[in-house]
Amino acid sequence: MLRDAVAAMPWLVLAMSRLANANCECGYSVNKTSDPSFAVYTNLLENDFLHIKTDNVTEFGWRAQEYNVSAEDARGPYGKEFFIENIETNPLKDANAWTGDSDHGGDAGLQLWVRGDHSHGYVSGAEMATVRNDTLYGSYRIGMKLSAESGTCGAFFWFYNNSQEIDLEFLSHQFNQSQGAVNLVLQTPQSVIHGYDASNTSDFKVQSLDFRPDERFHEYRFDWSPESVQFYVDGKILQVMTNNIPTMPGRMFVNHWSNGDPKWSAGPPERDTSMTISYIKAYFNSSDTAQNDEYKSRCANFDPSKVCQIPDQTVPPDGSLGDANAAKTYFFTQDKDHAPGQEVFATTNGASSGVIRLFGAAYLPLLVALVSCIVGL
Ligand SMILES: *[C@@H]1O[C@H](CO)[C@@H](O)[C@H](O)[C@H]1NC(C)=O
Ligand SMILES: *[C@@H]1O[C@H](CO)[C@@H](O)[C@H](O)[C@H]1NC(C)=O
Ligand SMILES: *[C@@H]1O[C@H](CO)[C@@H](O)[C@H](O)[C@H]1NC(C)=O
Ligand SMILES: *[C@@H]1O[C@H](CO)[C@@H](O)[C@H](O)[C@H]1NC(C)=O
Ligand SMILES: *[C@@H]1O[C@H](CO)[C@@H](O)[C@H](O)[C@H]1NC(C)=O
Ligand SMILES: *[C@@H]1O[C@H](CO)[C@@H](O)[C@H](O)[C@H]1NC(C)=O
Ligand SMILES: *[C@@H]1O[C@H](CO)[C@@H](O)[C@H](O)[C@H]1NC(C)=O
Ligand SMILES: *[C@@H]1O[C@H](CO)[C@@H](O)[C@H](O)[C@H]1NC(C)=O
Repeated sequence: MLRDAVAAMPWLVLAMSRLANANCECGYSVNKTSDPSFAVYTNLLENDFLHIKTDNVTEFGWRAQEYNVSAEDARGPYGKEFFIENIETNPLKDANAWTGDSDHGGDAGLQLWVRGDHSHGYVSGAEMATVRNDTLYGSYRIGMKLSAESGTCGAFFWFYNNSQEIDLEFLSHQFNQSQGAVNLVLQTPQSVIHGYDASNTSDFKVQSLDFRPDERFHEYRFDWSPESVQFYVDGKILQVMTNNIPTMPGRMFVNHWSNGDPKWSAGPPERDTSMTISYIKAYFNSSDTAQNDEYKSRCANFDPSKVCQIPDQTVPPDGSLGDANAAKTYFFTQDKDHAPGQEVFATTNGASSGVIRLFGAAYLPLLVALVSCIVGL
């Protein structure tokens, strides 16, 4: 049902953009198409959490996960519980601003909470996964600020199964006075052999960072191609992995949790603590036939002038120090007619919501019929 509802949405946008003479019909590129090395991707998913108000994550393409894992299965002294209520939107009060006061105070953005009360033997955390399960090779980016309380794991990852997974995992106990770290991991057949522990495999790197990830927002990114996974922070390359590269389509995940395992998450924290996400931007190829047919119809003959270059984020996307505009980052979905055939989610700053609001659900069948005609031409 959800899948159907979301899958129907690109057609709405497509219909408008066809009529309005869109850009980016042939996709989105990492680097210029004239550069020695570039990659073109057909699909995007963009979330601007500084300007999203609804607590129903499905309205912006995600599903909140709700499940429990016993201490034994969690392989730590505590079990884990994931609750929908631990995911909270906290947009900027001024919908037209990119920095400033938020609705509930603290950093604006999507907050994933780990709770401090673990007296019943479980630590309550947050996890969400994309509704879409068709995401393949692409460039995946998140603007976020990690927990300032020691004892949690905050992760941005892509998952197909336990041997095809790309992870960026932040352990807040690894943050110290001047530095931080991120664990870069490919879960591979080797990590399955090692009991789902990648730490003794070659696809695991504890990457030190010359800043504390809990002090400011930074952009963490991975570019996944058939040949490699390249990890970046604020546009600078951190690591390249070339073995055991995933080949299947999957979903993106974000989570924040603790199980008290002294060798990994440590903790658990003694008080409620959140990690905050300012945006997620993913540009990728799809395994979905309907999406791919749609791409072929809007880009019948590949034309590099109809490819839009994805801007590189080269500074921390954080408006709290120095440049107040630094948190203002580019969204194709907020630039008129730059997201033909893509899912576009409503935001409080009005950008991108017009198309969807213009046609209420009641008009959907009519519109799909109309689009079918256009595509049929
Ligand atoms: C983009 O260019 C940089 C610098 O030349 C290169 O390292 C990177 O691999 C390129 N990215 C892609 C996706 O080709
Ligand atoms: C992504 O899809 C485009 C369009 O079909 C194709 O040209 C490109 O080679 C694909 N990229 C990868 C890495 O598969
Ligand atoms: C959340 O949003 C989805 C997609 O718009 C909708 O189908 C669902 O009913 C909503 N859930 C609730 C609890 O409102
Ligand atoms: C497990 O999940 C259920 C809901 O699915 C919840 O009511 C319960 O409190 C959770 N925690 C434990 C420790 O069972
Ligand atoms: C994605 O989900 C759909 C609907 O649940 C399913 O039919 C399809 O096989 C899934 N695709 C992948 C690549 O897992
Ligand atoms: C993951 O999927 C791949 C491809 O289908 C398969 O070869 C592999 O055995 C799977 N891994 C696990 C842990 O199930
Ligand atoms: C801080 O953490 C980094 C990375 O984990 C580590 O290399 C460094 O030695 C630590 N510094 C101090 C002062 O603990
Ligand atoms: C990983 O290697 C270390 C040291 O080489 C060893 O002590 C540890 O038991 C290994 N862990 C696993 C899960 O194999």
